[in-house]
Amino acid sequence: MKDIYVLGIESSCDETSVSVVKNGREVLSNVINSQIKIHKQFGGVVPEIASRNHVDVISQVTNEALKEANLKFEDIDAIACTKGPGLVGALLVGVSYAKALSFALNKPLVGVNHIEGHIAANYITHKELKPQFLCMIISGGHTHLVNIKDYTEFEILGKTRDDAIGEAFDKVARVIGLEYPGGPKIDKLAKEGKANIQLPQTYFENLDFSFSGIKTAILNLNHKNPDINKADLCASFEYTATNMLIENTKKAIKKLNIDKVALAGGVSANSYIREQFLNLEKELNVKVYYPEITLCTDNAAMIASAGYYNYLVGNVSDLTLNAIPNLKIGG
Ligand code: KG4
Ligand code: ZN
Repeated sequence: MKDIYVLGIESSCDETSVSVVKNGREVLSNVINSQIKIHKQFGGVVPEIASRNHVDVISQVTNEALKEANLKFEDIDAIACTKGPGLVGALLVGVSYAKALSFALNKPLVGVNHIEGHIAANYITHKELKPQFLCMIISGGHTHLVNIKDYTEFEILGKTRDDAIGEAFDKVARVIGLEYPGGPKIDKLAKEGKANIQLPQTYFENLDFSFSGIKTAILNLNHKNPDINKADLCASFEYTATNMLIENTKKAIKKLNIDKVALAGGVSANSYIREQFLNLEKELNVKVYYPEITLCTDNAAMIASAGYYNYLVGNVSDLTLNAIPNLKIGG
């Protein structure tokens, strides 16, 4: 079969990224221009500033990605871009740029769901991984437990009813004085503490999640007792939040009688969460997968990979493609 090269474009939040991926699995380039330094001073992403920065750098990032892959525009078989979910202004930059490229080069356009991109990051790190498997998607904007029936077929088993887990990480970090994005800082500080503070866990009759209770409990504890040991607080937060993820994942493994479990999304970079999920291998006799760290957080290689599998089944878009800020999995 002829090799297929997909150019992926990601601009849903504060990373402008362009990548070339061969046959959905081999990354030839994955250039990521992060705006973290710009947004840090505001304690979070400022949507309009994010859009403006995407506009400033997207052409240059694309040229770099092609150069690194040692390819020209003509060598590309399809252009994939994140169509949602995300910040509408940020998404529109990538979608418009991808549409312009598709029109000018006369190449197929594939609009990719960002959350499905996070799942596809696992295909890059684990060349042998094929559906069906269970995926726990944990990121700044999403917490979804999904049955990956096929490359483009998904069944949502559970999702958060309020905050995404990454939002809780970032909020907790902010109140205890750690810089944005707080997830990696909590990961580090938690290693110096003990999980000795009792925090609430929330479960439902189905496999949904809730992280607002644990977040509020920490905000209150910290407010009432400003001298509370921050490392212990981080360790206790990680321990309790991870328990909620693990408990629902175990129920889903049993429900589906499945033997493969993957993690995806920015929060899956967390070392404690990775360690606890790995323990499931022995406990439940399943194989656990997670993407390499650089592919956990937002990047365009995962979009190119998901774009490849959509392209293969003819899920291509036309030039009416628009940004869909609240896009759901499978949409
Ligand atoms: O997937 P992502 O880059 O963006 C979304 O699609 O939302 O995820 C970003 C989130 C942030 O909340 C960040 O704090 C979190 O991932 N994160 C982590 C770690 N690295 C990134 N959370 C916990 N531990 C980490 N090591
Ligand atoms: Zn993401």
